[in-house]
Amino acid sequence: MTLTPAAVADLSRSTSDTLYLQIAERLARSIRNGTLARGARVPSVRELARQQGVSPSTAVQAYRALEDARLIEARPRSGYFVAARPARLPEPEPSAPLVASVEVDISSRAEQVLKMAMSPDHISFGAVCPSADLFQQERVRRAVSRAAQRHRDTLCTYPIGPGHLDLRRAIARHALGMGCQLDARDLLVTNSCLESISLCLRAVTQPGDVVALESPTHFSFLELLQSLHLRALEIPTHPRTGLSLDALQLAFDTQPVKAVLAVPTLSNPLGSSMTLADRRRLAQMVSQRGIPLIEDVIYNMLAERDDMRRAVKAFDTGGDVMICGSFSKTVAPGLRLGWVEAGRWSSEVRRLKAVHSGAHTELLEHAMADLLTQPGHESAYRQLRATIAARIDAARGLIAESFPKGTRITEPAGGFILWVELPGGLDSMALFQACLDRRIAIAPGNMFSATERFRHCIWLGLGGRWDAAQQAALREVGAIAGRLLAG
Ligand SMILES: Cc1ncc(COP(=O)(O)O)c(C=O)c1O
Repeated sequence: MTLTPAAVADLSRSTSDTLYLQIAERLARSIRNGTLARGARVPSVRELARQQGVSPSTAVQAYRALEDARLIEARPRSGYFVAARPARLPEPEPSAPLVASVEVDISSRAEQVLKMAMSPDHISFGAVCPSADLFQQERVRRAVSRAAQRHRDTLCTYPIGPGHLDLRRAIARHALGMGCQLDARDLLVTNSCLESISLCLRAVTQPGDVVALESPTHFSFLELLQSLHLRALEIPTHPRTGLSLDALQLAFDTQPVKAVLAVPTLSNPLGSSMTLADRRRLAQMVSQRGIPLIEDVIYNMLAERDDMRRAVKAFDTGGDVMICGSFSKTVAPGLRLGWVEAGRWSSEVRRLKAVHSGAHTELLEHAMADLLTQPGHESAYRQLRATIAARIDAARGLIAESFPKGTRITEPAGGFILWVELPGGLDSMALFQACLDRRIAIAPGNMFSATERFRHCIWLGLGGRWDAAQQAALREVGAIAGRLLAG
């Protein structure tokens, strides 16, 4: 490869980018885990530069990134201090166990909410789709046009097979960041994470089978189960540490569980992340029973801490974990590219993929391979994490100020989703309707279970626009909740 002057400039820019973001991330971690207390003074720019062996301008950049994330604040003539965190609300209770599996029927509920969430007439907290400004659009655009120049022949060639090897190699490298050593040849490229999960479910279940999953869980999973005529067994989940493995063990002992579907890192909607010990134990549990674990790692790169990015698949020795990911939330939703390594079921999943949707646009595969292997890629993740952390902090602060007393809220270590438990038995469907009258869309909690058990909760997606109107709308949701509770 020849390095042009522009490429050299790009490279050195991305190296220094990485450096200041690395320092910012280390400090952010110390703030979030309490090592640097709220209100405490942080080193001066000069001290930081000396401690980290960097130039003062890199130290200033690191502090700017932390200021943008509202983790530190500059006080005139006094230096930098750890910012006061928005008032703390208690976290929701762990969910209660369901004794038996149930048939799923949630599509109509989800359809109505999604329609409102996508409507341009509404201010929406109901969409799972991050908005375009969260991504490095120019970088993506350049990668696509480079691919179009270099691989123009592919546009008129019928694609076949499991995905271009360059992309599968790039995904295998990407998976190293989750502690997984995957063989590129075992990877299958898909259209999306949901397609990967759907293929895995089809490969390991028959209609009527029982699938264990977190409770509450992502409504699209429930819709998938419904479409495949599978039964849902909802396993209690802790808002911080995720799936209860004791409850899952009991389910294995007492119910005919055919597969487990879980999001061990930043689950949707709770934002919970399992401990490393639990991840190891989960891998052992499924391998002892020979029950497949369909692991969704879509949010792993958004986790604040490295250890939470480690997948359960990293502990899988017998091929019992089917790992599914995509780049919809982290790199470029519009490229529609996901992947799966289906362990013992790889050939069946590959066959199903060929039957149902075949291969896809090779050009976009090249663009994604390029994006994943560029030197600036890690720093793009860091920037994304910092931006959404700032939003989540701000949104939690607004909720603490404007929602009725007794409200509980999750404190996810990454990601852009908040789960709010409303006080006094307030019905989220009533709140949903009242918000619609004010042209605000939220997602009521009952979409996140096959039963009505989360009617007192709401889901807030903060990945969309985040401006003054959005912030006012969030306060308004709190005010409406207060009025409903009083009336
Ligand atoms: C946990 C989880 N998995 C999968 C998806 C879907 O991802 P994709 O668009 O790649 O199918 C979402 C969000 O929509 C999600 O929250």
